Amino acid sequence: MEVTYIREPTEEELSKVSKWSATSKRILEIIKERRSVSTVELSHITGYKLSTINAQISILRRMGLIENSPLSIKKSSVMECFDPSVNGQLSIESVYKVIERAEKRSLEKVPSVPSQYEIKNTILKESGKISIDVLQGDCLTYLRKGTGEKVHLTFLDPPFNQGKEYNYFDDEQNPKLYWGWLKKILHYIFKFTVEGGSIYFMQREKNTDWMMKVLKEAGWTFQNLIVWKKLTSAVPCPIRYGKQHQVIIFATKGEKPRLFNKLRIDYPIKPWHKYERTNGIYVTDVWDDIRELTSGYFAGDEALRDENGKRLHEQQSPVALLLRIILSSSIPGDVVFDPFAGTGTTLVVAYQLMRNAIGIEIDPSYIDVMNKRLKSIRAADDILKYRNYYRFTSNLDEIWPVERLSKYL
Ligand SMILES: C[S@@+](CC[C@H](N)C(=O)[O-])C[C@H]1O[C@@H](n2cnc3c(N)ncnc32)[C@H](O)[C@@H]1O
Repeated sequence: MEVTYIREPTEEELSKVSKWSATSKRILEIIKERRSVSTVELSHITGYKLSTINAQISILRRMGLIENSPLSIKKSSVMECFDPSVNGQLSIESVYKVIERAEKRSLEKVPSVPSQYEIKNTILKESGKISIDVLQGDCLTYLRKGTGEKVHLTFLDPPFNQGKEYNYFDDEQNPKLYWGWLKKILHYIFKFTVEGGSIYFMQREKNTDWMMKVLKEAGWTFQNLIVWKKLTSAVPCPIRYGKQHQVIIFATKGEKPRLFNKLRIDYPIKPWHKYERTNGIYVTDVWDDIRELTSGYFAGDEALRDENGKRLHEQQSPVALLLRIILSSSIPGDVVFDPFAGTGTTLVVAYQLMRNAIGIEIDPSYIDVMNKRLKSIRAADDILKYRNYYRFTSNLDEIWPVERLSKYL
């Protein structure tokens, strides 16, 4: 990654000691001296690890003191350079090939601070209007400005800082930086949430302690730790149990949720159950009836793909997951918020459930995906197929309006 100098920090910025270390000062000095320098070179000059450099670059970039040139070579691309024919050394030809590819990719990219681009889809409903707002840009920038509306429910599914490839996100940050950033986001969402409003924060299970900490510090009250057993094979681990779930923390603004719809599902009877149930069971904090959209055929039609069958977004959430969250913690007319909207799963479900929705996504290519998805609801995204499963919920007609059903039947 190439970084370019923009400006000195102001006195006020310098006084924010927590953000400003001797390391970041030194790095900024070197960038200033050279005007433009690659992160690898910075690592050579300073002797700091590349991960330290990247973490500092990320702070300096967010402060607006430097900018990234679009050229970026991801770790996986560097792995492609490994050429066994030269005894494990990087062959210069293969390095050039990777740089060429990265440059080509960078030409397709938009500047690092994308323009704010707003689309509003307004759907008419008898009692008023439901609006689905798709916003392109950095969610923290939007949140600092204010959402313009009070939010009733948020689904928070950020990149997990696990080294995945995102066009506009460094997914390998120093954990303190990453969690500090999420805490800010959680703080702003809290500010714009109505009293008793809810948040569902999804993460890897190993980050549960961080999630608890930042949620609490941002003002949220813990309600449940939901274990989403994703119905996929466990990830083996030599020194501890294999991993087979992801966590979702349900938290509220204030001690009690303003509403909580107790959903009943037609959960299949297990061999050890004593009695047949004729009216289903309540949903608990273990969700083992929703399949993750994996890369294999299990992802089925729901996973959005390009013409070559490649998935458009590796982290696309299942419709069934958002259906459960939105049904449990909102009613028609509420405002549902997704600051990391990706392919727009939250919006697609909110739309069908007659909730207003605001989605923010930094990557313009996903904005296009989301808009297409919203314009015409695909059969794979149609939530009607799940209605029977929830038929034992006492207030189902209230929380899942029937007036739109005819459109899907
Ligand atoms: C884990 S994915 C969310 C997937 C989504 N739940 C879905 O169903 O498609 C996280 C998304 O956040 C986006 N993103 C990363 N940084 C962002 C930021 N600062 N503001 C808004 N979106 C961001 C990424 O481009 C990515 O699409």
